[in-house]
Amino acid sequence: MKENDILTVTIIDDNHMGNGIAKKDDITIFVPKTVTGDIVQIKIEKVKKTVAESKVIKIIERSKNYQEPLCPYYNECGGCDLLHISYNKEKKLKENYIKKLFKDYEKKIISLDRENYRNKVTLHVKDNKLGIYQKESNNLTKISHCLLLDNDINKLIAILEKIDLNKIKEIVIKKGEGLLLSITGSINNNDLETIIKNKKVKSIYQNDKLIYGDKYLKVKLGNLTYNVNNNSFFQVNSKCAEKLYNYIKDNVESTNNLLDLYCGTGSIGIYLHEKADFITGIEINKDSVICAKKNIENNNIKNYKIVNSDASNIKGKYDTIIVDPPRSGLSKKVINILNKSSASKIIYVSCNPSTLKRDIELLKNYDLKDINIYNMFPATKHIETVCLLTAEKEK
Ligand SMILES: C[S@@+](CC[C@H](N)C(=O)[O-])C[C@H]1O[C@@H](n2cnc3c(N)ncnc32)[C@H](O)[C@@H]1O
Repeated sequence: MKENDILTVTIIDDNHMGNGIAKKDDITIFVPKTVTGDIVQIKIEKVKKTVAESKVIKIIERSKNYQEPLCPYYNECGGCDLLHISYNKEKKLKENYIKKLFKDYEKKIISLDRENYRNKVTLHVKDNKLGIYQKESNNLTKISHCLLLDNDINKLIAILEKIDLNKIKEIVIKKGEGLLLSITGSINNNDLETIIKNKKVKSIYQNDKLIYGDKYLKVKLGNLTYNVNNNSFFQVNSKCAEKLYNYIKDNVESTNNLLDLYCGTGSIGIYLHEKADFITGIEINKDSVICAKKNIENNNIKNYKIVNSDASNIKGKYDTIIVDPPRSGLSKKVINILNKSSASKIIYVSCNPSTLKRDIELLKNYDLKDINIYNMFPATKHIETVCLLTAEKEK
Protein backbone atom coordinates (compact mmCIF):
# COMPACT_ATOMS: atom_id res chain seq x y z
CA MET A 1 0.00 0.00 0.00
CA LYS A 2 1.30 3.47 -0.82
CA GLU A 3 0.24 7.12 -0.75
CA ASN A 4 -2.47 8.13 -3.26
CA ASP A 5 -3.72 4.54 -3.71
CA ILE A 6 -7.48 4.47 -4.24
CA LEU A 7 -9.27 1.61 -2.48
CA THR A 8 -12.81 0.49 -1.78
CA VAL A 9 -13.10 -0.71 1.82
CA THR A 10 -15.70 -1.90 4.33
CA ILE A 11 -15.40 -0.37 7.80
CA ILE A 12 -15.03 -3.19 10.34
CA ASP A 13 -14.64 -1.18 13.56
CA ASP A 14 -14.60 2.40 14.86
CA ASN A 15 -12.98 4.45 17.62
CA HIS A 16 -13.62 7.41 19.95
CA MET A 17 -11.66 9.72 17.61
CA GLY A 18 -14.45 9.44 15.02
CA ASN A 19 -12.46 7.17 12.71
CA GLY A 20 -13.77 4.07 11.05
CA ILE A 21 -11.22 1.25 10.80
CA ALA A 22 -10.58 -0.90 7.72
CA LYS A 23 -7.93 -3.59 7.06
CA LYS A 24 -5.96 -4.36 3.95
CA ASP A 25 -2.77 -6.46 3.65
CA ASP A 26 -2.39 -6.46 7.47
CA ILE A 27 -2.44 -2.67 7.46
CA THR A 28 -4.96 -0.87 9.69
CA ILE A 29 -6.49 2.03 7.79
CA PHE A 30 -8.14 4.92 9.66
CA VAL A 31 -11.03 6.47 7.75
CA PRO A 32 -12.36 9.72 9.25
CA LYS A 33 -16.06 10.24 9.98
CA THR A 34 -17.11 6.70 9.05
CA VAL A 35 -18.66 3.96 11.15
CA THR A 36 -18.77 0.13 11.26
CA GLY A 37 -20.62 -1.23 8.23
CA ASP A 38 -19.99 1.76 5.91
CA ILE A 39 -18.60 0.90 2.47
CA VAL A 40 -16.46 3.76 1.11
CA GLN A 41 -13.93 4.61 -1.54
CA ILE A 42 -10.82 6.14 0.03
CA LYS A 43 -7.53 7.73 -0.94
CA ILE A 44 -4.49 6.72 1.13
CA GLU A 45 -2.77 9.82 2.50
CA LYS A 46 0.00 8.46 4.77
CA VAL A 47 1.40 4.96 5.34
CA LYS A 48 3.53 3.99 8.35
CA LYS A 49 4.50 0.28 8.68
CA THR A 50 1.21 -1.22 9.94
CA VAL A 51 -1.11 1.81 9.91
CA ALA A 52 -2.39 4.18 7.26
CA GLU A 53 -4.41 7.40 7.19
CA SER A 54 -6.92 8.08 4.46
CA LYS A 55 -9.66 10.38 3.27
CA VAL A 56 -13.06 9.44 1.92
CA ILE A 57 -13.59 10.24 -1.73
CA LYS A 58 -16.91 8.48 -2.30
CA ILE A 59 -19.60 6.96 -0.09
CA ILE A 60 -20.75 3.68 -1.60
CA GLU A 61 -23.11 2.55 1.15
CA ARG A 62 -23.88 3.93 4.61
CA SER A 63 -24.48 1.47 7.44
CA LYS A 64 -27.41 1.62 9.84
CA ASN A 65 -24.92 2.75 12.51
CA TYR A 66 -24.36 6.01 10.64
CA GLN A 67 -26.29 9.02 11.87
CA GLU A 68 -26.92 12.00 9.61
CA PRO A 69 -25.00 14.86 11.33
CA LEU A 70 -27.24 17.69 12.49
CA CYS A 71 -24.57 20.24 11.56
CA PRO A 72 -24.29 21.55 7.97
CA TYR A 73 -20.53 22.22 8.40
CA TYR A 74 -19.61 18.83 9.85
CA ASN A 75 -17.75 17.39 6.87
CA GLU A 76 -15.41 20.40 6.61
CA CYS A 77 -15.16 22.07 10.01
CA GLY A 78 -12.41 20.91 12.39
CA GLY A 79 -14.50 21.33 15.54
CA CYS A 80 -16.40 18.03 15.96
CA ASP A 81 -15.44 14.39 15.36
CA LEU A 82 -18.44 12.32 16.43
CA LEU A 83 -21.66 13.84 15.09
CA HIS A 84 -22.00 10.97 12.59
CA ILE A 85 -22.64 8.52 15.44
CA SER A 86 -25.32 8.51 18.12
CA TYR A 87 -24.63 10.07 21.53
CA ASN A 88 -25.00 6.65 23.15
CA LYS A 89 -22.38 5.18 20.86
CA GLU A 90 -20.05 8.13 21.54
CA LYS A 91 -20.31 7.46 25.28
CA LYS A 92 -19.62 3.73 24.81
CA LEU A 93 -16.57 4.38 22.61
CA LYS A 94 -15.12 6.80 25.16
CA GLU A 95 -15.79 4.39 28.05
CA ASN A 96 -14.16 1.54 26.11
CA TYR A 97 -11.09 3.64 25.35
CA ILE A 98 -10.51 4.41 29.05
CA LYS A 99 -11.22 0.77 30.00
CA LYS A 100 -8.56 -0.37 27.50
CA LEU A 101 -6.03 2.19 28.74
CA PHE A 102 -6.59 1.57 32.48
CA LYS A 103 -7.29 -2.14 32.53
CA ASP A 104 -8.92 -2.50 35.95
CA TYR A 105 -11.31 0.41 35.60
CA GLU A 106 -14.69 0.06 33.97
CA LYS A 107 -16.62 3.27 34.52
CA LYS A 108 -19.70 4.96 33.08
CA ILE A 109 -18.88 8.31 31.52
CA ILE A 110 -20.63 11.28 33.14
CA SER A 111 -22.39 13.04 30.28
CA LEU A 112 -24.79 15.97 30.08
CA ASP A 113 -26.09 17.79 26.97
CA ARG A 114 -24.46 17.14 23.62
CA GLU A 115 -25.51 20.53 22.23
CA ASN A 116 -25.15 24.20 23.30
CA TYR A 117 -22.71 23.32 26.11
CA ARG A 118 -19.69 25.43 25.13
CA ASN A 119 -19.18 28.81 26.81
CA LYS A 120 -16.26 29.79 24.57
CA VAL A 121 -15.35 29.89 20.88
CA THR A 122 -12.34 31.11 18.90
CA LEU A 123 -13.34 32.33 15.44
CA HIS A 124 -10.83 33.18 12.72
CA VAL A 125 -11.18 35.54 9.77
CA LYS A 126 -10.02 34.79 6.26
CA ASP A 127 -11.07 36.55 3.03
CA ASN A 128 -13.52 38.64 5.07
CA LYS A 129 -15.29 35.49 6.30
CA LEU A 130 -15.73 34.41 9.91
CA GLY A 131 -15.32 30.75 10.75
CA ILE A 132 -13.45 27.82 12.24
CA TYR A 133 -10.24 26.26 10.92
CA GLN A 134 -10.45 22.84 9.33
CA LYS A 135 -8.46 20.01 10.92
CA GLU A 136 -4.69 20.53 10.89
CA SER A 137 -5.02 23.30 8.30
CA ASN A 138 -5.39 27.06 7.86
CA ASN A 139 -8.37 26.61 5.56
CA LEU A 140 -11.44 28.17 7.06
CA THR A 141 -15.01 26.90 7.17
CA LYS A 142 -17.37 29.86 7.34
CA ILE A 143 -19.98 29.30 10.02
CA SER A 144 -23.14 31.20 10.99
CA HIS A 145 -23.79 29.14 14.11
CA CYS A 146 -22.43 26.09 15.90
CA LEU A 147 -24.37 23.24 17.50
CA LEU A 148 -22.00 23.05 20.46
CA LEU A 149 -22.14 26.74 21.37
CA ASP A 150 -24.34 28.48 23.90
CA ASN A 151 -27.24 30.15 22.07
CA ASP A 152 -26.23 33.66 23.17
CA ILE A 153 -22.86 33.12 21.46
CA ASN A 154 -24.66 31.93 18.32
CA LYS A 155 -26.83 35.07 18.30
CA LEU A 156 -23.71 37.21 18.54
CA ILE A 157 -22.06 35.31 15.65
CA ALA A 158 -25.08 36.22 13.50
CA ILE A 159 -24.30 39.91 14.22
CA LEU A 160 -20.53 39.53 13.73
CA GLU A 161 -21.05 37.94 10.30
CA LYS A 162 -22.42 41.27 9.07
CA ILE A 163 -19.65 43.61 10.31
CA ASP A 164 -16.56 44.69 8.36
CA LEU A 165 -14.06 41.91 9.07
CA ASN A 166 -11.35 43.30 6.80
CA LYS A 167 -8.94 44.34 9.56
CA ILE A 168 -9.85 41.57 12.02
CA LYS A 169 -7.82 38.35 12.39
CA GLU A 170 -9.52 36.56 15.28
CA ILE A 171 -12.50 36.94 17.63
CA VAL A 172 -12.81 34.99 20.89
CA ILE A 173 -16.25 34.99 22.54
CA LYS A 174 -16.80 33.86 26.14
CA LYS A 175 -20.16 33.45 27.88
CA GLY A 176 -20.77 33.89 31.58
CA GLU A 177 -23.28 36.32 33.05
CA GLY A 178 -23.17 38.11 29.68
CA LEU A 179 -20.67 37.94 26.83
CA LEU A 180 -17.01 38.95 26.52
CA LEU A 181 -15.39 39.56 23.12
CA SER A 182 -11.67 39.60 22.52
CA ILE A 183 -10.77 40.94 19.08
CA THR A 184 -7.34 40.64 17.45
CA GLY A 185 -7.06 43.34 14.77
CA SER A 186 -9.14 46.48 14.53
CA ILE A 187 -12.86 47.11 14.52
CA ASN A 188 -14.50 50.35 13.27
CA ASN A 189 -16.72 52.49 15.49
CA ASN A 190 -19.97 51.77 13.57
CA ASP A 191 -19.48 48.04 14.01
CA LEU A 192 -18.63 48.51 17.66
CA GLU A 193 -21.95 50.35 18.11
CA THR A 194 -23.78 47.52 16.32
CA ILE A 195 -22.24 44.91 18.65
CA ILE A 196 -22.96 46.91 21.80
CA LYS A 197 -26.67 47.06 20.85
CA ASN A 198 -26.74 43.39 21.90
CA LYS A 199 -27.36 43.93 25.61
CA LYS A 200 -25.75 40.61 26.50
CA VAL A 201 -22.33 42.02 25.52
CA LYS A 202 -20.61 43.15 28.73
CA SER A 203 -16.92 43.47 27.74
CA ILE A 204 -14.95 44.04 24.55
CA TYR A 205 -11.17 43.77 24.33
CA GLN A 206 -9.18 44.84 21.26
CA ASN A 207 -5.62 43.54 21.06
CA ASP A 208 -5.72 42.81 24.82
CA LYS A 209 -6.92 46.35 25.66
CA LEU A 210 -10.36 46.85 27.21
CA ILE A 211 -12.34 49.12 24.85
CA TYR A 212 -15.87 48.62 26.21
CA GLY A 213 -17.57 47.58 29.42
CA ASP A 214 -16.35 45.55 32.37
CA LYS A 215 -12.83 44.25 32.80
CA TYR A 216 -14.10 40.85 33.97
CA LEU A 217 -16.84 38.49 32.91
CA LYS A 218 -18.57 36.72 35.79
CA VAL A 219 -19.06 32.95 35.53
CA LYS A 220 -21.03 30.98 38.13
CA LEU A 221 -20.12 27.49 39.37
CA GLY A 222 -22.20 26.17 42.27
CA ASN A 223 -22.77 29.11 44.60
CA LEU A 224 -19.43 30.72 43.71
CA THR A 225 -18.80 33.46 41.16
CA TYR A 226 -15.56 33.52 39.17
CA ASN A 227 -13.97 36.34 37.16
CA VAL A 228 -12.68 35.59 33.68
CA ASN A 229 -10.92 38.04 31.37
CA ASN A 230 -9.81 37.92 27.74
CA ASN A 231 -6.77 35.69 28.30
CA SER A 232 -7.52 33.56 31.33
CA PHE A 233 -8.44 29.87 31.18
CA PHE A 234 -11.86 28.72 32.30
CA GLN A 235 -13.56 25.35 31.84
CA VAL A 236 -15.58 25.50 28.58
CA ASN A 237 -18.42 23.31 29.84
CA SER A 238 -19.54 24.89 33.12
CA LYS A 239 -22.27 22.32 33.96
CA CYS A 240 -19.90 19.38 33.52
CA ALA A 241 -17.09 21.22 35.36
CA GLU A 242 -19.42 21.60 38.34
CA LYS A 243 -19.98 17.80 38.43
CA LEU A 244 -16.23 17.23 38.25
CA TYR A 245 -15.49 19.75 41.01
CA ASN A 246 -18.13 18.14 43.24
CA TYR A 247 -16.43 14.75 42.77
CA ILE A 248 -13.09 16.30 43.82
CA LYS A 249 -14.74 17.97 46.81
CA ASP A 250 -16.29 14.67 47.89
CA ASN A 251 -12.89 12.99 47.71
CA VAL A 252 -10.82 15.51 49.64
CA GLU A 253 -10.94 14.94 53.38
CA SER A 254 -10.45 17.94 55.64
CA THR A 255 -6.81 18.75 55.20
CA ASN A 256 -4.18 21.15 56.56
CA ASN A 257 -2.29 22.14 53.44
CA LEU A 258 -3.74 21.76 49.96
CA LEU A 259 -1.80 22.46 46.75
CA ASP A 260 -3.77 23.49 43.62
CA LEU A 261 -1.12 22.99 40.92
CA TYR A 262 -1.80 24.52 37.45
CA CYS A 263 -4.59 26.43 39.18
CA GLY A 264 -5.72 28.73 36.32
CA THR A 265 -8.17 31.24 37.78
CA GLY A 266 -8.13 29.33 41.07
CA SER A 267 -11.46 27.69 40.37
CA ILE A 268 -10.76 24.26 41.95
CA GLY A 269 -9.01 25.59 45.08
CA ILE A 270 -11.76 28.15 45.64
CA TYR A 271 -14.40 25.44 45.26
CA LEU A 272 -12.61 23.45 47.99
CA HIS A 273 -11.78 26.35 50.31
CA GLU A 274 -13.84 24.94 53.20
CA LYS A 275 -11.96 21.64 53.07
CA ALA A 276 -8.49 22.98 53.90
CA ASP A 277 -6.84 25.16 56.51
CA PHE A 278 -4.56 26.59 53.87
CA ILE A 279 -4.45 26.40 50.06
CA THR A 280 -1.60 27.35 47.69
CA GLY A 281 -2.26 27.74 43.96
CA ILE A 282 0.54 27.75 41.37
CA GLU A 283 -0.08 29.11 37.86
CA ILE A 284 2.24 30.34 35.09
CA ASN A 285 -0.16 32.62 33.18
CA LYS A 286 -0.14 36.19 34.56
CA ASP A 287 -3.70 37.01 33.44
CA SER A 288 -5.05 33.87 35.10
CA VAL A 289 -3.20 34.80 38.29
CA ILE A 290 -4.76 38.28 38.27
CA CYS A 291 -8.22 36.68 37.85
CA ALA A 292 -7.48 34.10 40.54
CA LYS A 293 -6.55 36.83 43.05
CA LYS A 294 -9.71 38.72 42.16
CA ASN A 295 -11.78 35.53 42.58
CA ILE A 296 -10.30 34.90 46.01
CA GLU A 297 -11.03 38.47 47.08
CA ASN A 298 -14.57 38.59 45.64
CA ASN A 299 -15.55 35.30 47.24
CA ASN A 300 -14.14 36.56 50.54
CA ILE A 301 -11.74 33.62 50.86
CA LYS A 302 -8.96 34.11 53.38
CA ASN A 303 -7.03 30.83 53.22
CA TYR A 304 -5.92 30.69 49.56
CA LYS A 305 -2.61 32.13 48.28
CA ILE A 306 -1.65 32.23 44.58
CA VAL A 307 1.93 32.03 43.29
CA ASN A 308 2.70 33.15 39.72
CA SER A 309 5.28 30.57 38.73
CA ASP A 310 6.15 27.40 36.85
CA ALA A 311 4.53 24.30 38.35
CA SER A 312 7.92 22.86 39.30
CA ASN A 313 8.46 25.68 41.77
CA ILE A 314 6.73 23.84 44.63
CA LYS A 315 7.76 24.95 48.11
CA GLY A 316 6.51 23.57 51.41
CA LYS A 317 4.68 20.41 52.47
CA TYR A 318 1.17 19.42 51.45
CA ASP A 319 -1.29 16.71 52.59
CA THR A 320 -3.28 16.75 49.36
CA ILE A 321 -2.17 17.85 45.89
CA ILE A 322 -4.50 18.57 42.98
CA VAL A 323 -2.90 18.74 39.54
CA ASP A 324 -4.74 19.94 36.42
CA PRO A 325 -2.01 20.29 33.76
CA PRO A 326 -2.43 21.18 30.05
CA ARG A 327 -2.67 18.37 27.44
CA SER A 328 1.10 17.77 27.57
CA GLY A 329 0.75 16.49 31.16
CA LEU A 330 3.30 16.78 33.97
CA SER A 331 6.97 17.63 33.36
CA LYS A 332 9.68 15.20 34.57
CA LYS A 333 10.68 17.77 37.19
CA VAL A 334 7.12 17.93 38.59
CA ILE A 335 6.89 14.11 38.60
CA ASN A 336 10.12 13.90 40.63
CA ILE A 337 8.92 16.48 43.15
CA LEU A 338 5.54 14.70 43.53
CA ASN A 339 7.24 11.33 44.05
CA LYS A 340 9.28 12.83 46.88
CA SER A 341 6.37 14.76 48.39
CA SER A 342 4.70 13.93 51.70
CA ALA A 343 1.18 14.21 50.27
CA SER A 344 -1.04 11.24 51.11
CA LYS A 345 -3.33 11.95 48.14
CA ILE A 346 -2.93 13.30 44.60
CA ILE A 347 -5.97 14.15 42.53
CA TYR A 348 -5.05 14.29 38.84
CA VAL A 349 -7.47 16.14 36.51
CA SER A 350 -6.59 15.46 32.89
CA CYS A 351 -7.86 16.41 29.43
CA ASN A 352 -5.52 13.93 27.74
CA PRO A 353 -5.81 10.24 28.73
CA SER A 354 -2.54 9.23 27.06
CA THR A 355 -0.31 11.71 28.97
CA LEU A 356 -2.34 10.85 32.10
CA LYS A 357 -1.52 7.15 31.66
CA ARG A 358 2.19 7.98 31.12
CA ASP A 359 2.33 10.20 34.22
CA ILE A 360 0.50 7.73 36.48
CA GLU A 361 3.06 5.09 35.57
CA LEU A 362 5.83 7.55 36.46
CA LEU A 363 4.26 8.46 39.81
CA LYS A 364 5.77 5.33 41.30
CA ASN A 365 5.14 6.24 44.93
CA TYR A 366 1.39 6.52 44.37
CA ASP A 367 -1.29 3.92 43.65
CA LEU A 368 -4.25 4.56 41.41
CA LYS A 369 -7.45 4.13 43.46
CA ASP A 370 -10.22 5.43 41.21
CA ILE A 371 -10.96 7.06 37.88
CA ASN A 372 -13.98 9.14 36.93
CA ILE A 373 -14.65 9.96 33.27
CA TYR A 374 -16.38 13.18 32.20
CA ASN A 375 -17.77 13.98 28.77
CA MET A 376 -16.63 17.58 29.06
CA PHE A 377 -16.45 17.97 25.26
CA PRO A 378 -19.36 15.99 23.72
CA ALA A 379 -19.30 15.41 19.93
CA THR A 380 -15.51 15.77 19.92
CA LYS A 381 -12.83 13.12 20.48
CA HIS A 382 -11.72 14.73 23.76
CA ILE A 383 -12.17 13.07 27.16
CA GLU A 384 -11.71 14.55 30.64
CA THR A 385 -10.80 12.27 33.56
CA VAL A 386 -10.10 12.61 37.26
CA CYS A 387 -7.87 10.09 39.01
CA LEU A 388 -7.45 9.52 42.73
CA LEU A 389 -3.95 8.43 43.72
CA THR A 390 -2.89 7.57 47.24
CA ALA A 391 0.59 7.27 48.73
CA GLU A 392 1.68 3.66 48.61
CA LYS A 393 3.15 3.83 52.09
CA GLU A 394 3.25 6.36 54.92
CA LYS A 395 6.23 8.70 54.42
C1 LIG B 1 -6.24 22.68 32.18
S1 LIG B 1 -5.88 24.27 32.80
C2 LIG B 1 -6.44 24.12 34.45
C3 LIG B 1 -6.91 25.35 35.13
C4 LIG B 1 -7.70 25.24 36.42
N1 LIG B 1 -7.31 24.16 37.26
C5 LIG B 1 -9.21 25.21 36.16
O1 LIG B 1 -9.86 24.19 36.39
O2 LIG B 1 -9.73 26.24 35.71
C6 LIG B 1 -4.14 24.22 32.89
C7 LIG B 1 -3.51 25.47 33.46
O3 LIG B 1 -2.10 25.24 33.59
C8 LIG B 1 -1.41 26.44 33.31
N2 LIG B 1 -0.01 26.06 32.99
C9 LIG B 1 0.49 25.57 31.82
N3 LIG B 1 1.79 25.27 31.95
C10 LIG B 1 2.14 25.57 33.23
C11 LIG B 1 3.35 25.47 33.97
N4 LIG B 1 4.47 25.00 33.41
N5 LIG B 1 3.36 25.85 35.25
C12 LIG B 1 2.22 26.32 35.85
N6 LIG B 1 1.03 26.44 35.19
C13 LIG B 1 0.99 26.08 33.91
C14 LIG B 1 -2.21 27.05 32.19
O4 LIG B 1 -1.97 28.44 32.07
C15 LIG B 1 -3.65 26.72 32.60
O5 LIG B 1 -4.20 27.75 33.38
